Amino acid sequence: MNSLTHRLAAPFVALVLGAVTILLADSGQGPSSVEPDSNALDSPVMQKQVEALLRQMTLDEKVGQLVQYSAGQPTGPGTGRTDYEDMIQKGEVGALFNITTAHQVNAYQHIAVGRSRLHIPLLFGLDVIHGFRTEFPIPLGLATSWNPELVEQAARVAAEEASASGIRWTFSPMVDIARDARWGRMAEGAGEDPFLGAAMARAYVRGYQGARLDAPDSIAACPKHFVGYGAAEGGRDYNSTEISEHTLRQFYLPPFRAAIDEGAATIMSAFNSLNAVPASANPFTLTQILRREWGFQGIVDSDYTALAELIPHGIANDGATAARKAFLAGVDMDMVSSLYHDHLVQLVRSGAVPESAVDEAARRVLRVKYALGLFQHPYADESKEADAMLHPDSLMLARTAAEQSLALLKNDPVAGIPLLPLSGNAKTLALIGPLADDRGNMFGSWAGLGRSEDVITLRAALTEKIGSQNLHYAKGTEIEGGSNDQLTEAVKAAEQSDVVILAVGENGPEMTGEAASRAFLGLPGRQEELLERIVATRKPVITVIFSGRPLTLPWAFEHVPAVMAAWFPGIQAGAALVRTLFGEVNPSGRLVVSWPRSVGQEPLYYDALNTGRPPGVGVDPTEKKYVSRYIDEENSPQFPFGFGLSYTAFRYTNLKVDKAQLSANVLNEALKAHKSKPSTVLTASADIANVGPRAGSEIVQLYLRLQGTSVAQPVRALGGFQRIALAPGEIKKVTFLLGPEVFAIWNDQQNLAAEPAKLTLWIAPDSTQGLSSTLEITK
Ligand code: NOJ
Repeated sequence: MNSLTHRLAAPFVALVLGAVTILLADSGQGPSSVEPDSNALDSPVMQKQVEALLRQMTLDEKVGQLVQYSAGQPTGPGTGRTDYEDMIQKGEVGALFNITTAHQVNAYQHIAVGRSRLHIPLLFGLDVIHGFRTEFPIPLGLATSWNPELVEQAARVAAEEASASGIRWTFSPMVDIARDARWGRMAEGAGEDPFLGAAMARAYVRGYQGARLDAPDSIAACPKHFVGYGAAEGGRDYNSTEISEHTLRQFYLPPFRAAIDEGAATIMSAFNSLNAVPASANPFTLTQILRREWGFQGIVDSDYTALAELIPHGIANDGATAARKAFLAGVDMDMVSSLYHDHLVQLVRSGAVPESAVDEAARRVLRVKYALGLFQHPYADESKEADAMLHPDSLMLARTAAEQSLALLKNDPVAGIPLLPLSGNAKTLALIGPLADDRGNMFGSWAGLGRSEDVITLRAALTEKIGSQNLHYAKGTEIEGGSNDQLTEAVKAAEQSDVVILAVGENGPEMTGEAASRAFLGLPGRQEELLERIVATRKPVITVIFSGRPLTLPWAFEHVPAVMAAWFPGIQAGAALVRTLFGEVNPSGRLVVSWPRSVGQEPLYYDALNTGRPPGVGVDPTEKKYVSRYIDEENSPQFPFGFGLSYTAFRYTNLKVDKAQLSANVLNEALKAHKSKPSTVLTASADIANVGPRAGSEIVQLYLRLQGTSVAQPVRALGGFQRIALAPGEIKKVTFLLGPEVFAIWNDQQNLAAEPAKLTLWIAPDSTQGLSSTLEITK
């Protein structure tokens, strides 16, 4: 039983209906006789309603519930279909996506509810990835806040806006672990760490689904892409993955598990092959893990044409085989391929697929529709749609989110004081670069319904702050391409100014997100040339990098005094940046991906294994040969996971751990009881002081290392974090109450258990530093 069940099993008095008969005219109202008294996916009353409906359905109608098409702007290869209306009327479609307005939603819904035999409402989905109309920072930026409450609020705003347009299902959050910056979709997730990824996954689900799924402003979440998609070989999108069961369970599955435990109503199966079995036809992950081990009751939706892609994958030579394999492996709904529509009825008739399995899949779809309240309220209220968008509170939240998404990577002194925040000495500023005044690009990939006219660019916000007479703007170059004249003009603008802000980076929609893998991670086009020309003017330069991944910019990190990673900050980009550059806000973002020095280091992640020949230790720590290293590059990242600067400074002292020993047996007992009775097995604390001149927020991170276990464990693994605000001079004791699950590993038997080990624990400002203590886990 997942926690959706716990949270949503509302204390309603069961209104037990006998046979559920749905008689409905196209009145604009849903069938009032179907009154779900709870939206839990296993609520007994809802089960009764679903069963009653199922009994009335033909096999074709059941299969119809498993069919999903894109009826708007396609987000993948086109289907060439135009007969949706006819199919909907015949009960041959269960869900549509890529429709974006209440009017369009209602038009299709009227066909389904008013004109199909059983009046079953359609489910409308969309990629609402980091906002609907109010666009927040890209998910990688949101995660950089290390602030799940903020992410939950952002997801809530997205749900409120999307649901006002009739969208009741989002294909989000993307919870794929991303260890390789070449993979463009790193932009869409929470980075490389499973613990942080799980915290973010829960936050999104809570935000989207709200307290009750059947509230009109709640939308069903769809954690994706199940599973391993982020481990694409070479970082090339859609590429194969090889992930051992241990690594899958310990690193790739936890964010999915967290999302499911939080009650996610649906999940999306991935495009990639996983250990040679495509993830969208993989019985081990879809049935064994997801259904049997986790008890997932919601819908498994395939990714876009993933079922048809089983043919090029090489595990099916025709559509019928692809449909059979995917269906029997555990995919309930076929997004776009149309293979269930074309073959599933026949597969049942021929005995290749049991009808009971189709019943079960249809049951899952109907359950989610009931849980969302669609049978009662299938239509969107068009009169309320416009008012739901861009609330002032939503814009403020987008600004806060953008501020907390910024990671200050470098801030060297110029004339004795750190260049940032900008002081009154900077009377005239040059703003240079192709991203300085580019509205559309501030959304990154998956812009939802974001409109460029709603965006505040850096130029707009800076002009408002200091007046156009004090600002010398020059585009400098294009993201790709650009002319010598543009470069010359930019140099002139720099020369006329006290300080230069240089806004460079990637093209959000084109170079980040889906199908945007890169083999080179430098600045595209002539931007590196621009950067070097501007630095050559000897003016102090602040570089703001807009990107969907870390970029390899060794020259910039050596020669530019201040560098800010801004990702793509969304609708309030400029406002957030200007407030931060001028010190009204103190940057607090911390990297959620290891920042590489060179592409050749990828995949690069902090929670790696030590190897048998780690560099820098052993008999001769200076030994350079026969150790695991590059001969032409450092092993270490440019900036580590968890890293980010502040305008103030924090000091860590007084680490305390309340035990010197733990017992594996005791931990395992506590682990068994933990779900129903969470417990604390170890308390660790440290004093964090703000020893700098300004108020600031610190992300206090707790890391662990286990040595002597049956399976090698990472050199460090995140086991907790807290975001704290400190006034200048203030000291706070930060306490971590650690449960048994923090010490459990996926062992050599593929069981989650604690083992005897040497345990090192850090409380730290990032993954490379911190105060540490060593304990023992005995038998
Ligand atoms: C393909 C993408 O992989 C997935 O993330 C997205 O949700 C679907 N297309 C639908 O647009």
